[in-house]
Amino acid sequence: MCGIVGYIGSKQAAPFLLDGMSKLEYRGYDSAGIAVLEKGQVRVEKCVGRLDALRQKLEGNMPESVIGIGHTRWATHGRPSDRNSHPHTDSSGKFVVVHNGIIENYLALKEELIAKGVEFSSDTDTEVVAHLMADLFDGDMESTVKKVLKVIKGSYSLVFMCEAEQDKIICTKKDNPLVIGLGEGENFIASDIPAIINHTRRTFIMSDGEIATVTKDGVWVQDIEGTPINKKVFEVNWNAEAAEKGGFEHFMLKEIYEQPKAMRDTMTGRVNAEEKTITFPELNWTSEELQGINKIFIVACGTAYHAGIVGKYYLEQLARVPVEVDIASEFRYRSPLVDGNSLCIVISQSGETSDTLAALRESKRLGARTLGVTNVVGSSVAREADQVIYTYAGPEIAVASTKAYTTQLLAMLMLAIYVGRLRGTLAEEQAKELVGGLASIPEQIHKMLEDVDQIKVFAREYGSCEDAFFLGRSLDYAVALEGALKLKEISYIHAEAYAAGELKHGTLALIVSGVPVIVLATQEDVYDKTVSNLQEVKAREAVVIAIGFEGDTSLAKYADHVIYIPKTGKYHAPLLAVLPLQLLSYYAALTRGCDVDKPRNLAKSVTVE
Ligand code: M6R
Repeated sequence: MCGIVGYIGSKQAAPFLLDGMSKLEYRGYDSAGIAVLEKGQVRVEKCVGRLDALRQKLEGNMPESVIGIGHTRWATHGRPSDRNSHPHTDSSGKFVVVHNGIIENYLALKEELIAKGVEFSSDTDTEVVAHLMADLFDGDMESTVKKVLKVIKGSYSLVFMCEAEQDKIICTKKDNPLVIGLGEGENFIASDIPAIINHTRRTFIMSDGEIATVTKDGVWVQDIEGTPINKKVFEVNWNAEAAEKGGFEHFMLKEIYEQPKAMRDTMTGRVNAEEKTITFPELNWTSEELQGINKIFIVACGTAYHAGIVGKYYLEQLARVPVEVDIASEFRYRSPLVDGNSLCIVISQSGETSDTLAALRESKRLGARTLGVTNVVGSSVAREADQVIYTYAGPEIAVASTKAYTTQLLAMLMLAIYVGRLRGTLAEEQAKELVGGLASIPEQIHKMLEDVDQIKVFAREYGSCEDAFFLGRSLDYAVALEGALKLKEISYIHAEAYAAGELKHGTLALIVSGVPVIVLATQEDVYDKTVSNLQEVKAREAVVIAIGFEGDTSLAKYADHVIYIPKTGKYHAPLLAVLPLQLLSYYAALTRGCDVDKPRNLAKSVTVE
């Protein structure tokens, strides 16, 4: 959470900082602020609210400087307010810092500083860092930063400036992302690449414990002992436009429409459409290697966790390995029975989610083999997992995950087919049928996205409801979970997903006249039972919107409305069935006037526990 930027060069810093922060608002948008060294002095400008509020504040009074740092906040310690906005300074105002993460021992440090007479002006954990800089300053910024790092505990990306050394910015990180952009006579710092991509493509990613001294003419990286570190510079090959809205009203809608391409890209090099086989050149597993694996753990958060649940169905049914799926924030606290015969798969779009990373590290500590499924090349998950499968969804900016989810489902299905074949649990014919079905998915999604009028109508009609329910059995249940999350997070409608058979064990009490219930009915083996559950809610006068396959003539007899999706196999159905749910959430959020791309209280990348 929180977005950080920094600039040093010979151009004006403020315009870069504001532009870079606008690309990082997905990381937090409770407040925004910048600090520059203007006429030799630290000048801080910050305020609660979106970046636009800061822009307005600066109109006609833009700070002038060639060095500066900026921050968009996702509040952890201290409510969103002007005083809690970053950057924070020490009492003299000479040391200034921006921070992403949590200083876990800030209370103890704060008490010590207060005992020394320091006065605090915010409720944040970050402010202690600025005061520590002043308290420990020994005339040299780098050595002072090292001293600060020795006393703080927690997770952080930190960027420092001070009046005593006007020609440098210092930054460091632990468990939170930070990238450096290298320019000609200028250098950049950011939490994520979209912030710098308009200025340079030459970047490197900071690793935990590294300290970078960034000047106009170069960047020098060392560890806390002063050992120099040579960083591998790479060229970002994204198109800057890929991170812009490209004519769509919102990133979320753009990303929904990018799903056919995301699917194709994720299949490239893995699906052989002619031979109808799957390969993962990046894994190159052998059947002997897999003999030792007797259990798979899938660990993730939010939408990625929902993809993990689908993955469990795939891996258990096609590869016949027992799979446990865990919410990452719970995993390490339940003493999981992970050992050297376990494979731990962590799924994370960003590859930076703090709990997911912690689960990955815990699995490694327990001796498991680890596999990351992530969308971000060079992310922490990608670097720390033993092996990685990239989803090629392209940058996902909207907080609500859409194309990342469907590519995660696709990756899990391809993986299950691959492992099933290697283990001999999946017959060649069935594998070919599954791969054949996959090849049609991008076109089927494309077709579904051509006409979404019916969904717009439903969103208008039911968008004002306060509660909604999502039901399904088997894989439909897993997709229902994602449908409910999507609706909640962007439209703020209270939504719950249930395994359809579970409803009568309590929740049926909530089904009253007019409540919208979305019933997924794509799974043939449980179809009749799902229809019975549909009738149970109809009998309580719920309004039922069913999702079923084209050609299903029964559903319309029971449901109030039916959204038809192209006919596909049972394992492919989640890839299509989630689409109307994404769109329903999007248009419901629009109907309710919600800020679709930046839902309240949320951030795209959750790098705190
Ligand atoms: O980057 P990650 O995939 O690890 O993020 C996990 C969740 O925070 C994320 O999926 C979240 O639930 C989405 N906002 C849901 O749309």
